[in-house]
Amino acid sequence: MKISFIPHKSPLPKTDLIVLPYWEGGERASDFSRPEAERVVASGHFTGKCGEVVRTYSQEGENLLLVGWGKKGSESEEGLRNAYATVCREAMAKKSRSLSLIVPSSGEKLSFPVLLRAMCEGIFLTNYTFDRWKKEKTPLIEELVLSGVENKWEEELHNWQVIASGVHWVRDLVNGNADEINPAFLEKEALSLAKEGVLETRVFRKKELEEEGMGLLLAVGQGAVEEPRLLMVSYKGDPQSQEKTVLVGKGITFDTGGLSLKSTDNMLTMKCDMAGAATVLGVMRTLAALGWKKNVIALAPLAENAIGSRSYKLGDVFRACNGKTVEVLNTDAEGRLILADALSYAVKALQPTMLIDIGTLTGAISVALGDEIAGLFASDDLLAKKLEEASKRTDEKLWRLPLHDYRENLKSEIADLTNVGGGKGAGSMKCALFLQEFVGSVPWAHLDIAGVAYLAKACNYYPARATGWGLRLLVNFLMAK
Ligand code: BES
Ligand code: MG
Ligand code: ZN
Repeated sequence: MKISFIPHKSPLPKTDLIVLPYWEGGERASDFSRPEAERVVASGHFTGKCGEVVRTYSQEGENLLLVGWGKKGSESEEGLRNAYATVCREAMAKKSRSLSLIVPSSGEKLSFPVLLRAMCEGIFLTNYTFDRWKKEKTPLIEELVLSGVENKWEEELHNWQVIASGVHWVRDLVNGNADEINPAFLEKEALSLAKEGVLETRVFRKKELEEEGMGLLLAVGQGAVEEPRLLMVSYKGDPQSQEKTVLVGKGITFDTGGLSLKSTDNMLTMKCDMAGAATVLGVMRTLAALGWKKNVIALAPLAENAIGSRSYKLGDVFRACNGKTVEVLNTDAEGRLILADALSYAVKALQPTMLIDIGTLTGAISVALGDEIAGLFASDDLLAKKLEEASKRTDEKLWRLPLHDYRENLKSEIADLTNVGGGKGAGSMKCALFLQEFVGSVPWAHLDIAGVAYLAKACNYYPARATGWGLRLLVNFLMAK
């Protein structure tokens, strides 16, 4: 999106739509006015509630959109982000390609930089479609004119756009056909991320996985035509520092459930099961573009959980990369298996100071928290707190759940662990407890995004289907640390 900056009170270039902010009750939130807009307010057809939008036209033929900011003094970042998501949807629906935003010099509660960011994020995150297979395309907004903003904000705006484009990149990978976005495809993506020279990519194919003893990842992937892989993408932005965060993302490119086959309804959305891997790769892409002073490594274990004569079998025992053995009681609890190998590899070979995994692990997490809140489990309070703080900034909501000692349920008679606990309930926690067996004493957090990664219908700046949830959270977390 092309962005231009127009100083306060300077004339606007012609655009398809001009967006004017109002407080609840009808007071203008900026000093930009048009008599036609004032008339709409006076008519009582527009009250200025946060996120309310009304269209009108000026005598000069300008298209105007009034947007409510809510009660003066109660405005919030999230409220504005959502309000401008509505603005963006409205503009897209009317096929407006260029947009002028009237930016107030300050809010009542929010400062100029905060409100500017919220407004622009709302637009950037919403300005996305996945219509590559449709004859009729929805045009995106191509040009944004920021009225009341000096061009010293250019670099900030560029960074916010880079982050939003990372979110879009993740959405595209998750929305794509599972038949195309397989382990080989993601390997190519990771290799091309490294082309610029900022990131380094290493690929573990079947042979290297065998050498490292990653028996769980190999087992999960053995039924598929495309062999499993582990991708490692490294970014060394601060060579002086010993700090090193390792991010691990679940990359099941399609989850049939394996021999513990899923029902049609449950399988329908399982192209989303590599959302964790796409997110950690997207974070690396974003870090490289922003050039921050951080050391981060992303690990993406990739496999298709396929059904066929070579699929891994129930009751069989496989050995993880840290030597622990696992009896497979359900081949549909495959995510924890591939993560276990990647986590133990990180602990064994990478000396992480912090370990965070993310993935679509359990249907149970959406039973507990729905599709707007992800589950957080952590062995380390400080790490959990920092993630919660980042989550408040980006409004990707998290709820920390306990790691209560239900470990009894993971015991096996013939191996060190089983992959699904006995006993009732706490499915997401049992998965987290299983993973904890593979992280040693490294401060660790686990994000279960099975509820939030893929939506049935659009909500605020999230489109229907892939949301890209977690990229902004992790980037913000890394930025603040
Ligand atoms: N990929 C699924 C979890 C999932 C469910 C993701 C819904 C997105 C939406 C995972 O591999 C899975 O199948 N989990 C099982 C675990 C069970 C067998 C212990 C589940 O949730 O039923
Ligand atoms: Mg499964
Ligand atoms: Zn899965």
